[in-house]
Amino acid sequence: AYPFLLNSLGIIVVALLAGYLAERLRATGGRLELAEERAVAAERLATLGRVAAGLAHEIRNPLGSIRGSIEMLRESPALGAEDRELCDIVQRESKRLETLVSDMMELAKPRKPSPEAVSIAHLAKEVVALSAHNERSGSGDVKVEYAGPDEGAVALCDGSQMRQVLWNLVRNAVQVSEAGSVVRVKVSHAKRDIVLGVQDQGPGIPDEQKKKLFDAFYTTRTQGAGLGLAVVKRIVDDHAYVGVRMDIESPIRGSKRGAEFRVRLKEATS
Ligand SMILES: Nc1ncnc2c1ncn2[C@@H]1O[C@H](COP(=O)(O)OP(=O)(O)O)[C@@H](O)[C@H]1O
Ligand SMILES: [Mg+2]
Repeated sequence: AYPFLLNSLGIIVVALLAGYLAERLRATGGRLELAEERAVAAERLATLGRVAAGLAHEIRNPLGSIRGSIEMLRESPALGAEDRELCDIVQRESKRLETLVSDMMELAKPRKPSPEAVSIAHLAKEVVALSAHNERSGSGDVKVEYAGPDEGAVALCDGSQMRQVLWNLVRNAVQVSEAGSVVRVKVSHAKRDIVLGVQDQGPGIPDEQKKKLFDAFYTTRTQGAGLGLAVVKRIVDDHAYVGVRMDIESPIRGSKRGAEFRVRLKEATS
């Protein structure tokens, strides 16, 4: 009787094993299919990126000439007030195109960061000075203020990439702000971290939006391209290996509105 029992047991074991193997095979096949889909998608994105980068590059130069010319034209004494206003529109719109093009190039042709010791205080003050003159929300003037040390706050990062991160965050903050409100650019120390924050008093960000925000082409603005935060995320992710991270607080604690985007960098020790 025993051989029979053993045989049955053997058959059952083999059947179970076969079932298990079949299942594994299906799973592996599924994974392969998924991997193939992903590879195709990545390839498509890469091609799109090359086209975008080429296009952006071709747009950049003529756009530069347009901006230079209109700037000179605007100063001509022969122009009336109305003509001058038209020049302002050309200037404003070409500037918008320029930021769009630089975001497109940054996304399409990622550059590896070259981290060095950068004074975040200096960098932040520079961006604040720039945006104090240039930025307004849809509804009017918005104050951009700096709160932090006058100098120092030295962290490890690629200075020009971090400047673009801050610039994109400030631009968004101003755009969601009402006239007369304040956007605060904050620099502080937290243990071994330098924290760079951009705080606004805008409507804030609902939880279900927080994940989508950083997707390329996600935008809620009629004139938005949805690239600003995608660039921010790319640069922050590329800095992960030097300890850079990002988080969002919204609404601001003690208030029902507002948002703060915070970039945490590792303090550079000399
Ligand atoms: N400070 C902010 N407060 C509220 N919403 C924001 C803020 N910054 C970004 N967003 C939301 O994230 C979206 C994506 O931003 P972004 O990638 O810069 O693209 P864009 O500015 O072209 O819309 C915005 O359209 C807006 O809905
Ligand atoms: Mg933006």
